[in-house]
Amino acid sequence: MGSKAEDEGAYLDWNATTPPHPEVLAAMTHASAVAWGNPASVHGTGRRARLEVEELREALARALGVHARDVVLTSGGTEANNLALAQAPGLVTSRLEHPSVVRVADALAASGRPVRWLSVSPGGRLDSAELREACRDMPAGSWVAVQAANHETGVLQPIAELALPVHEAGLRFHVDAVQAFGKVDCSALAAADSIAIASHKIRGPKGIGALAFRGRAPKPLLLGGTQERGLRPGTVDAVAAAGFRAALRLAAEGPARWGRLALLRDALEAALTPLAVVNGSAPRLPHVSNLSFSGQRGDELVAALDLYGVSVSSGSACAAGTAEASPVITAMGGRERALGALRISFGDATPPESLTLLKDLLFQLVGGGVAKGSRSP
Ligand SMILES: Cc1ncc(COP(=O)(O)O)c(C=O)c1O
Repeated sequence: MGSKAEDEGAYLDWNATTPPHPEVLAAMTHASAVAWGNPASVHGTGRRARLEVEELREALARALGVHARDVVLTSGGTEANNLALAQAPGLVTSRLEHPSVVRVADALAASGRPVRWLSVSPGGRLDSAELREACRDMPAGSWVAVQAANHETGVLQPIAELALPVHEAGLRFHVDAVQAFGKVDCSALAAADSIAIASHKIRGPKGIGALAFRGRAPKPLLLGGTQERGLRPGTVDAVAAAGFRAALRLAAEGPARWGRLALLRDALEAALTPLAVVNGSAPRLPHVSNLSFSGQRGDELVAALDLYGVSVSSGSACAAGTAEASPVITAMGGRERALGALRISFGDATPPESLTLLKDLLFQLVGGGVAKGSRSP
């Protein structure tokens, strides 16, 4: 099975972060001994660290179909999204996006730049005809930002289809692929002008991610040294780079391994039908289920399940600890539905018994009884 962390209780919050894979931990342990130097140093110790960083950059370039010089290492998905969009002269996006895009859009609007919000259907998909209208008369060099997969519902956007009106209008297309990359086929990312990914969503370490771009480079957010061609100054962590590269190797097989999880997800949703409705329509990520329990509070269910060692989430992790209803589910189905929402997300190392435990507990907590056929999810 996987690492020790995922064996402790039932960890069903893989969209928040994934447990580091044993091969990732081995690569980082090795790199800690041989590549701890500063990758910017010219001496041998620095060169060994730089090798790790540049091998990661090459691997990312191959995986994302860009030139290695057009890959900027960042601290994760949040920084990659900010780097891509913070200087945009105008932006078209939607309330489905992660806060690292929505907050940038709010800041751009506050600074007087045009920001257009696409409407959100109850199923959570964007409409290319509406996008075509929204792209009209935007200032030159404006961006459209769309996520490949939603962090709360797993709903997949039709990236190739949405790219067409963006490029027809002469705008640029940023895709936040943080949740989709390594889980589903991402060949449509070939249509993006920039792509954000994060290592910790694909069983790599936290604190490292990447922005890959085609065409003009983004303007740096930080001022400092010449690391990352000056696009992202600051010493790069070569040990994290080694872990990210190991995670990328696993991600190449990801869509096949993750695809199998849809059976477990569908069985869980079928079993919970008497208690809950599913948020989000197909196509969705295979390992994510977002369910609204009528008359229940999602945050209270999260707390109750935690007492039994079951980890799930009631919104994006960034909203945890606040009583805010999820903006994504609110945009799709209204506030009541959002307040009752629970996000269940698992992975290739999740024992099916964890889902059975979750289902039985939900029947106890919500249904006041025992689930039918409680041996399987
Ligand atoms: C779709 C999406 N974009 C961006 C991010 C931010 O990534 P990070 O946590 O690496 O900053 C997340 C994290 O949950 C996400 O789900």
